[in-house]
Order: sequence, then C-alpha cells, then structure tokens
Amino acid sequence: MEQFHSKTINYFYILALCLLSFGLIFGLAGALEYVFPGVSKHYISFEKIRPLHVSSMVFWILTAAMGAVFTFLQEHTGKGIRYPKLLKIQLFLFVIATVSILISYFFGIFGGREYWEFHPGFAIPIWIGWVLFLINIFGSIESFKKQPVYVWMWLTGVVFFLFTYTESNLWLFAWFRNEIVHDMTIQWKSYGSLVGAWNMLVYGSSIYLMDKIAGNKKYSYSNIAFWLYFLGLFNGMFNWGHHIYTLPTFPYVKHIAYAVSMTELILFARIIWLWRDSISSIQKNYHILSYRFIMSADIWVFITLGLAICMSVPALNIYMHGTHVVVGHTMGATIGINSMLLMSFVFDRISKQKAVEQNMKSINIGYWIIQISLPIFFLSLVIAGFVKGYWQLSEDRGPYLGMIYSLKPYFIVFAVSGTTMIIGFLMVIFPALKGLINYKSLEK
Ligand code: HEM
Repeated sequence: MEQFHSKTINYFYILALCLLSFGLIFGLAGALEYVFPGVSKHYISFEKIRPLHVSSMVFWILTAAMGAVFTFLQEHTGKGIRYPKLLKIQLFLFVIATVSILISYFFGIFGGREYWEFHPGFAIPIWIGWVLFLINIFGSIESFKKQPVYVWMWLTGVVFFLFTYTESNLWLFAWFRNEIVHDMTIQWKSYGSLVGAWNMLVYGSSIYLMDKIAGNKKYSYSNIAFWLYFLGLFNGMFNWGHHIYTLPTFPYVKHIAYAVSMTELILFARIIWLWRDSISSIQKNYHILSYRFIMSADIWVFITLGLAICMSVPALNIYMHGTHVVVGHTMGATIGINSMLLMSFVFDRISKQKAVEQNMKSINIGYWIIQISLPIFFLSLVIAGFVKGYWQLSEDRGPYLGMIYSLKPYFIVFAVSGTTMIIGFLMVIFPALKGLINYKSLEK
C-alpha cells in the first residue's frame, strides 16, 4: 500500500542519511586526532570535531526515527497523516535547526551542554518541531482502543521525548542551575530518559516491521512485546539511576535502574530471536536487506548487554569509569542497535526501487564491511579503555604521556577500522539516497 505523504517522508530519510554521512566524516577526523593529536588544529579543533560528530549522529537517529514512525503509522492506519502542513513545517524546522547547529559549531558558537552543545536558542525550533510531531501522531490515530504495542510505543516515545528534552534545558533557569546536585541530577536523568524515549520510537518501529515481514500481527499484540513496552516505560522514568553513579543517592535506585534496562534489552533480543525462527525463507529473501540489518541489531543487543553487565559490576566499573569503554559502549549501542534498525526501516521503504536493485552488490559488500569493521572498532575502544583504567588505578603508575603513548596501537586500529566502516556505510548510503531521491510509487 502506498503512503499518502511519501515525498515529505522521503525528505526526512534524506536529511537523516545526509546527517549520518556528515557525522561519519567528523568521526574520522576525531579518530585521526586520537592517533595524531593536534593534526587538524590549524583547521579545526577537537572541541569542534566532537560536537559536529555527536550532534550529527544524534540527529541522524532522531530524524530517521521520525521518518519511520510517519511511514509505518500511515501503513498501520491505511490513511495519510492528519495534518500534512504541520508535517512539512516540522521537516522545515528540523532542516533549519540541524543545518544551523552544524554551521554554528564551525564558527565556534556553543553554549549548550554535553550531547546538546549547540546554542540554547536552537532548542526553540527543535522543541516546536517536536510539538508538531506529537500533534500529528496523536491526530492521526483515531482510536486508542485495541491498538498494537508499537502504537503505544510511538505515543509514549513522542510524549517522553518532549518532556525530557524540556527537562534537559531547565538548567537555563538560574533556580535549577544554582544548586549543583539538583542541576546534575536533572541533567543526567533527562539524558537517560531521552535515550529511552527515542528507543521507544525505534523499537516500536522495529516491532511493526517484524510483523510486516512475517505477514501477521503476532508480536505487536504479544505479551512479551507489552512487557517490553512496560519496562521501557519504567525505564524512561527510572533508568537515569545509572547515569548518576557518581552522585550521592541511594544505591537501590541504581540497582533497580540497571536491572530494568538490562531486562529490557533481553526481552528485545528475545523478540527478534523468536521472530527470526518464525519467518519463512521466502519472507526473508523478499525483505533481505531489512532482515539482515535487524539480525545485525540483534547481535549488537547481546554485545552491548554483555558490556553493560560488566559495567554494572563495581569491581570492573572502577576500571571503566571515565575511559574509552564508555565511548565504546555508547557507539556500540548507537551504531550496532539504533543505526542498524534505522537502516532496516530505510530499506523497507526503498528495497524495490531501481537504484537499490541495481546496486545490490555494492550494498551487500558495504553491509559486510560494516559487520566486520564494527566489532574491531568496538574492541579497540574497550581495550584502550581498560588499559587506561588499569593505569589510573595502579599505585606506581608512570607519566600520563607514557600511558597515552601505550594506547596508540589501539587508536590506530580504531582509526583504521573506523575508516573501513565509513567506506561500508557510504556503499550503503549512496544507493539508498539515490533510491529516495528518485522514489517512484510502486502502487498500481
Ligand atoms: C553510525 C555511526 C556512528 C555513530 C551513531 C556514532 C555515535 C557516537 C556517539 C553517540 C558518540 C559520543 C560517545 C560518548 O561521549 O560517550 C561518539 C563519539 C565519537 N565517535 Fe562516533 N559514531 C559513529 C561512527 C564513528 C566512526 C566511524 C568514527 C571514527 C572513524 C567515530 C569516532 C568517534 C570519536 C573520535 C568520538 C569522540 C570520543 C571522545 O570524545 O573521546 N564514530 N560517536
């Protein structure tokens, strides 16, 4: 069935893939700084490279998730989006905000906080754009009765994001900013919940897609999926516990938070695993690209879960805290889980487009390059992090520079595997962009 507002939705995906490509280039610039510190300082400093990379990646996830929710929502209701004008304004606001934010970084204009380092003024179009998103999602669903789990996930995700995004900007008011523990607690709580909110959008969309591939509604009404939803909801409210590890709060808050976020991952992995066994090889082959990206995400759920379990063990946590292990964990989750699922959504939309069918070979090679590079990339960061953690804790530790020098081999592996991963991504992204730009409706 063809979507009513396909053009605007394709633009969401196009914006998302452009942000991903841009972010990858600045990831490479950051990796080069690890190997040759100061190599690009005459052109651009690491203080600019990092936010250019991280913000591009955060907005890649958000805009692709919006594209997926709009696409699947229309397929689910069989109708168009309720307020097409608002959809266009939302897209416009996100284009303006993301492009201006990236340009402002080049000029050294900051003023925000970690992960949202842009000037707080840019929060206004993002906030308004999100309100429009919320209005359209709620407006397009006619009844709340007997809805499948993914609809609840989308509704909850959009509301939660707006709430926590607002919270993450409360520090702008002196009343919140002046009390350090309150300020940090709200800040880290909101970051944890923001990830929970976008995961609701992404996981919800993947449950929709899995049912679409299987040709039934087995998982979207299943008990296990609703458990996942309730845990996600609980997580959105309480998972911040492990983000405030260093703050003086009750230990049980952190333990509950950890247990919940891990159970959530286990349930999600289990749903994908059960689904994999339930679909036929014909269904797999017909949706081969989406299928492959979903399976890759499943493996990365286990890998990030394994690392998260290690991080929750206090004896190991002291070696990991504030090291590259944390960066490895964040990138493992945002590349391995989020980006793989988002790619599966993009290819669900365009897999039958000429540009994709003609470039199947390049996409397949790109896919496998990513799958081989990512574990090496991830491991190099985790090992470098442990080496640094060991140095931090040893009593007769040598000079800082000596430790940094000893990390160089791992950083070289990180930069090389990062480069091959970028090549893999570009081999996938270019045909996808072509397919979206030349999108032809297949409806007769
Ligand atoms: C889809 C692809 C990618 C995503 C979603 C992604 C996401 C992220 C995120 C969320 C962070 C912040 C981590 C933290 O502060 O804990 C980060 C940091 C970073 N990423 Fe990536 N990344 C991607 C690919 C790459 C690639 C291919 C490279 C290198 C070639 C790279 C290099 C870096 C570097 C150098 C940092 C900064 C770490 C620091 O502050 O020391 N990333 N990335």
